Amino acid sequence: MEISVCIGSSCHLKGSYDIINLLKEQIAKHHLEDKVVLSASFCLGCCSADGVSMKVGDQVLTGVTAANFQGIFDKHVLEALN
Ligand code: FES
Repeated sequence: MEISVCIGSSCHLKGSYDIINLLKEQIAKHHLEDKVVLSASFCLGCCSADGVSMKVGDQVLTGVTAANFQGIFDKHVLEALN
């Protein structure tokens, strides 16, 4: 599974690097290093969303924040891998 986090200027200001760090933590915690490829991407075209945009596989998820990250990760990453 490929996950890329937008580091365009709008998402950057909304905390892209916090989201990348949370992803790294969760990937390590669940031992997903072999299953998930984490990268950064340029603007995904959803800057107006109230949070960071990221792409999980083919799906673009918007409005990701430190507060809602865990639910999004569980649903779109963990469940998808299981
Ligand atoms: S900067 Fe992230 S969607 Fe545009």
